[in-house]
Amino acid sequence: MRRKIIAGNWKMNKTANEAAALAQELAVHIKMNPHDRVETLIAPPFPFLQTCVRSVSEIPGFHVAAQNCHQEKSGAFTGEVSAAMLASLGVSHVIIGHSERRTFFGETNDILKAKLNAAIEQNLIPVFCVGETLEERNNHRQVLVIEEQLQHTVCQLDYAHLRQIVIAYEPVWAIGTGLTATPEQAQEMHVVIRSLISKSFGHGNAEIIPILYGGSCNPKNAASLFACEDVDGALIGGASLNANDFLSIRNAMISSLA
Ligand code: PGA
Repeated sequence: MRRKIIAGNWKMNKTANEAAALAQELAVHIKMNPHDRVETLIAPPFPFLQTCVRSVSEIPGFHVAAQNCHQEKSGAFTGEVSAAMLASLGVSHVIIGHSERRTFFGETNDILKAKLNAAIEQNLIPVFCVGETLEERNNHRQVLVIEEQLQHTVCQLDYAHLRQIVIAYEPVWAIGTGLTATPEQAQEMHVVIRSLISKSFGHGNAEIIPILYGGSCNPKNAASLFACEDVDGALIGGASLNANDFLSIRNAMISSLA
């Protein structure tokens, strides 16, 4: 059985006090309501990582992710943060290839491949995002786009390292728009992703990779998405900024396993 993951991507939101309060509220709930098959991740902005790491420490199945890392180990890269720095803080995961990074910060497949390697070298678990734009979907190019995004990045990894990663399917047209992929669309694309991984690494390896759905996931639509066989959780933006919403999505996952 694949592990299930509920991940909150806080993006560029919250102040120090707000971030600490949200992490603490989640920690209290998750400590009292643990689940051995559901991992919970929060990805706060860089300045709040350490506070959040303290909040989750010693709560099994609750982890902190960074939203990005630089591909180089150290050096003259003003304003950047390396994977080694994240690991040294006790951060365990890092989101790589989010569409906002690709679109607003020019991250190419080559850069993303280097970031994947940098993260893996530090034993961080990459949450690698792929997804097509609305125009690409309207032109029926979604499968080709995902194939290209994976081919140059994840599919270049060693077998041993593949087992370490998590993939997030995030259709760009669904991110922050209130438009969610239907369960059928999500399931279809997750199967596409799993079969691409299977082609490169074999069925057994493809079967163990968790594939999360991201894009306007909320407490109302979570249960129907989690009912899909190949949807192993969610990467949640807007709805992760509110403890009740985020926890009710986590509860939807727990209920789907019952
Ligand atoms: P959203 O963001 O849930 O606000 O659509 C998802 C994401 O960008 O990871």
